[in-house]
Amino acid sequence: MSEIIKKPRGTVDYFYEDASVLISIKNKLLSLAERYGFSFCTVPTFEESRLFHRSVGESSDIVRKETFDLVNKGDRSYTLRPEFTASINRAVIENKFFSSPSLPLKFSYFDKAFRYERPQTGRYREFHQFGVEIIDEKIDLSSQVETLLLAIDACKMILGDIEVKAKINFLGSVTSRDNYKKALYSFFADKIQYMCEDCKRRLETNPLRILDCKVDEDRKFIQDAPKITDYLTEEDREEFEQIKKLLLKLNVSFQVDDNLVRGLDYYTGFVFELYSDEKLGALAGGGKYSSLMKELGGPEFEGIGFSIGIERLILSLIGKGSLDYKKSLDYFVIDLRKNGDGLIIAKKLRDKGYKVSLPSFSRSMKGAIKMADRENAKNVIIVDSDMTYKLKDMSTREQKDLTFEEILGL
Ligand code: HAM
Repeated sequence: MSEIIKKPRGTVDYFYEDASVLISIKNKLLSLAERYGFSFCTVPTFEESRLFHRSVGESSDIVRKETFDLVNKGDRSYTLRPEFTASINRAVIENKFFSSPSLPLKFSYFDKAFRYERPQTGRYREFHQFGVEIIDEKIDLSSQVETLLLAIDACKMILGDIEVKAKINFLGSVTSRDNYKKALYSFFADKIQYMCEDCKRRLETNPLRILDCKVDEDRKFIQDAPKITDYLTEEDREEFEQIKKLLLKLNVSFQVDDNLVRGLDYYTGFVFELYSDEKLGALAGGGKYSSLMKELGGPEFEGIGFSIGIERLILSLIGKGSLDYKKSLDYFVIDLRKNGDGLIIAKKLRDKGYKVSLPSFSRSMKGAIKMADRENAKNVIIVDSDMTYKLKDMSTREQKDLTFEEILGL
């Protein structure tokens, strides 16, 4: 026998209940985004590699070691998208949407992203993200607060009673961040020899990322590090205060986390992450970016957005035993005549919008009823060989005779 080929590490197969959960989450989230005024978009699965180098950033772990780079077939190199923000901003520039009279641009997405990470619970190499981006000449306070509101709403809509915590921070303009980076560099310079290899590299590439280090021994150095709030301009500080005030007014509970720096380089202001089970990592992350469009050759527009990791949402549901997405059918049609009459009835019921399925002709009556139970059919229609029709209510198990016209009137 030949060897069985398995799926690549860090990928997921979705079938049956898992697939129903996925499609149901997708439909719910996209319709929620529509209610907030976002229009759905899709972008290519792969882009020119330099798009992610310029946007997500050379110093981010994603670009440094986590991209899936495609074997070069020509003079361009391509990368499977590790996220969507870069592609959407690229598409806005390329399609000249920024000159559209319908500013702000508001796009939503739900699709797969790819990162060559070490697989573990909640971390995959191929995973789904739902997210939104708002792009405009200037991203005002209300767009920033609304983006966080939508992110929280989206998680709560799927997670129900499960608690969702919001952590927020303000990274500031490029200038304030550069000053802060310098301060971090001097602070860590004499401590870095005792810290992990990743931090040693981060000190040179982007000292901000040291704050995100998860190594326990490094945390004791990090807790005394200078805080970004001390390096914000007066204007930045005022904006952050206004955002916090608005969030309080809207009854959104949040925690300010000075060490929240995000793993992508394009953020320049308000940033946030959402958590349910901290062991799974962040459920969602996002924030404002002011120079991404320009970096990509577009106008000086700003943007804000977030993405939710769908697999982490599903794991949070499973963790709380709240996963209850049973497939169901309105009618299960058993055709004992085996002449296609059952197919005609099924077609007519489907045309009316009912969910209908049929077993194969070879199934016995007993086997077909068992199947109807497994498929959670509410009713069974038996197209009997004596030319009668029977309707069986599967919850009461009561059965009654119907005429063909009565079936068509269901
Ligand atoms: P991110 O924080 O890199 O942000 O990813 C957002 C979410 O995607 C994470 O919070 C997590 O739930 C999920 N995620 C990330 N990597 C993995 C993985 N390897 N396996 C499973 N889930 C994962 C972004 O991607 C930004 N583009 C968000 C954004 C949009 N910022 C502004 N606009």
